[in-house]
Amino acid sequence: MVDEDFQGGEMRAIQTVTDVNLAERSVLLRVDFNVPLKDGQVMDDTRIREALPTIRHLLKRSAKVILMSHLGRPDGQVDLRYSLRPVARELSKLLSRPVLFIENCIGADVGQKLEELDEGSVILLENLRFHGGEEANDPAFAAQLASYGDAYVNDAFGSAHRAHASTVGVPALLPIKVAGFLMQKELDFLGAKTAQPERPFTVILGGLKVGDKIGVIDALLDRCDCMLIGGAMAFTFLKAMGMDVGKSPVEKDRLEDVVHAMEKAKKLGVELLLPVDTLCTDRLDLAAGTVGELRQWTGSIVEDGWIGVDIGQLTVERYARAIAAAKTIFWNGPMGIFEIESCSKGTFAIAGHVADADATSIIGGGDSVRAIHQSGRVEDITFISTGGGASLEFLEGKVLPGVAALNSKDA
Ligand code: 3PG
Repeated sequence: MVDEDFQGGEMRAIQTVTDVNLAERSVLLRVDFNVPLKDGQVMDDTRIREALPTIRHLLKRSAKVILMSHLGRPDGQVDLRYSLRPVARELSKLLSRPVLFIENCIGADVGQKLEELDEGSVILLENLRFHGGEEANDPAFAAQLASYGDAYVNDAFGSAHRAHASTVGVPALLPIKVAGFLMQKELDFLGAKTAQPERPFTVILGGLKVGDKIGVIDALLDRCDCMLIGGAMAFTFLKAMGMDVGKSPVEKDRLEDVVHAMEKAKKLGVELLLPVDTLCTDRLDLAAGTVGELRQWTGSIVEDGWIGVDIGQLTVERYARAIAAAKTIFWNGPMGIFEIESCSKGTFAIAGHVADADATSIIGGGDSVRAIHQSGRVEDITFISTGGGASLEFLEGKVLPGVAALNSKDA
């Protein structure tokens, strides 16, 4: 069930693949196979694995499964560095059955090839973004894609914040438009589980920019009991409180926003915690991944000329107590520059505490997901979102066009 706050005021329960009869249909399944590739190999297959339950469900019903996805941002041009061919190979391995890869996503021969295939076939079309019509939500492009199927399933939560042809234009043309299992799971965990959380609900937010997170901070302050702030964005909060932050990054145009957030927390009785000590360096080269001398300053203060690169030990201990007391946890964003080993302790310590907690734990956003994978504790997390931008926009309470395009249960 999707909470009304998350659907722009509509109380909408979305139809899913179990609500409609998809037996022997040609199903257009939008997936988010935007996965990292290196030398023609898939480096992280999480998003492919997460789509398997929906694909298997359709195959059991002898549907013809026509998969559509984007990969990267080729900007409407054919650029084979972004070809989905390696993904088709990977999917075939995971499914233990052939996956037919078609080297384009539109064109007369695509339709003809699809016609010739039997029910129970799995087909992956080439990258949708090789055509400008995808991102422009061009009606002719959408109509071509829609002509290949008689039902539409969206399992691409990671792309649901994009109003593109494959997420909005195609479903508008088909009577059956429902969510897949992954989409349903994402909406449930990021929606209902954070809207009516088991309390205490602790939110941990980190990462580089307050600007990217201010909407989420504002929305989650209404729902949580405790908010822990880390990462570079903590310095904008500390600066707004009149602290010295040395050469640490501060978003001057966000100082007013964070003051407002701190006032809101106070008014609502939400405990908003900021770092009480910081690991700092006198030299940082992000491109080379190196730092100079490292020192830990206590008291939320960074000395002149120094840059904060991680939360300190006292902060970890304080945050650990709030995490251990929680019954629901949402974490987005690292606590420091965890790509550099000497600055990664805070992030990995928080990952460990979230994994140890006796709580429903939800992690969203690329960097914190990477951190939990690197810490080897994935199995101890209740739900890891496959969405980056989509999960933040959804938590902010924005209507996701790709979700709004799907049929309601009562339709
Ligand atoms: C993602 O990886 O966040 C999604 O696949 C969306 O990709 P995009 O930001 O290029 O639209």
